[in-house]
Amino acid sequence: MLVRPASLATWPPRIHDLFGQEGPLVLEVGFGDGRFTAELAQAHPHWLILGAEVSAASVLRAYRRLRREGIGNVRLYHGQGPFALRNLVPPRSLRRVIVNFPDPWPKKRHQKKRLLQEGFFRRLSTRLGEGGDLLLTTDHEEYFRFALEEAERTRLYRVEVKDPPEAHLRTKYALKWQEAGRTFFHAVFTKVAEDPMPWPPIRRYPVAHALLKGNLPEKLVLVKAPVVVPGGVAVFLEVARGEEGFYVLTHVEEEDLTQGLLLEVRKSTKGIYAGVSRFGSPLITDGVRGAVQALVRELERMGLEVVQDHT
Ligand SMILES: C[S@@+](CC[C@H](N)C(=O)[O-])C[C@H]1O[C@@H](n2cnc3c(N)ncnc32)[C@H](O)[C@@H]1O
Repeated sequence: MLVRPASLATWPPRIHDLFGQEGPLVLEVGFGDGRFTAELAQAHPHWLILGAEVSAASVLRAYRRLRREGIGNVRLYHGQGPFALRNLVPPRSLRRVIVNFPDPWPKKRHQKKRLLQEGFFRRLSTRLGEGGDLLLTTDHEEYFRFALEEAERTRLYRVEVKDPPEAHLRTKYALKWQEAGRTFFHAVFTKVAEDPMPWPPIRRYPVAHALLKGNLPEKLVLVKAPVVVPGGVAVFLEVARGEEGFYVLTHVEEEDLTQGLLLEVRKSTKGIYAGVSRFGSPLITDGVRGAVQALVRELERMGLEVVQDHT
């Protein structure tokens, strides 16, 4: 039921591999506790519903609910909606995207964090099928107007403002805001054209490691500060000593993707290995390679010499 992007080796992804069946594909971004997702799946058992949610606690709650209710036509991705859209959804394959009560980010300086922006609508048009749509329901009028303007700027959608469907008013946040007496806003954005810029999946690599000549250092001290890597930043959070060498707990943040992973510096039969540990099966992206390169530079500074570079 949980989608691991690392296990999806092919592009475009095969929806049948993910769901074990064919059907109209629907993406819900920010499903929260999953009660709407479960209701939608039960109302449309032939729909294939992919949910994306950044909160781990919410993913767990929704996962338990879907298990409890024996629902088989939902797959959950723990991470950013745009990442799921870009990497898990084949071009022109989506019937519908549902966004219920997205975080409004009301402060001007936070507006760039909003999901429904011009760039998102443009990219979405490459994943929606003909006549595919996005349904937005919110209690936040200013964000609602913002989303309408952003979509209209692309000229890729027909936008209709309507009353929200009943089911969209039974989400956790809908009930909360009903109690508070708030008004609801709803719009349907139907794709009428496609952005000419394709949106290829994130670039991935099979390996990121180097072999070095020299002695394994007695101590490995890495500064806990952001290092600029291609497309993002990496931080070495903590170093732990293992039997064979060191493990470096590393955080890599790239567009729509945040990964925690382990790097290793250890003795191998061919010298000192510095690279990504298999633990957690991280995606080897440009940012992860950048983190390994930064680690290798530190080791060079300590006197080791690179003999093979696969970073
Ligand atoms: C205000 S809550 C609404 C939850 C649910 N849709 C409801 O109506 O009860 C917004 C949800 O979106 C999630 N979220 C915010 N940004 C996201 C993103 N970029 N991708 C996926 N989920 C996101 C948050 O973690 C949160 O659970």
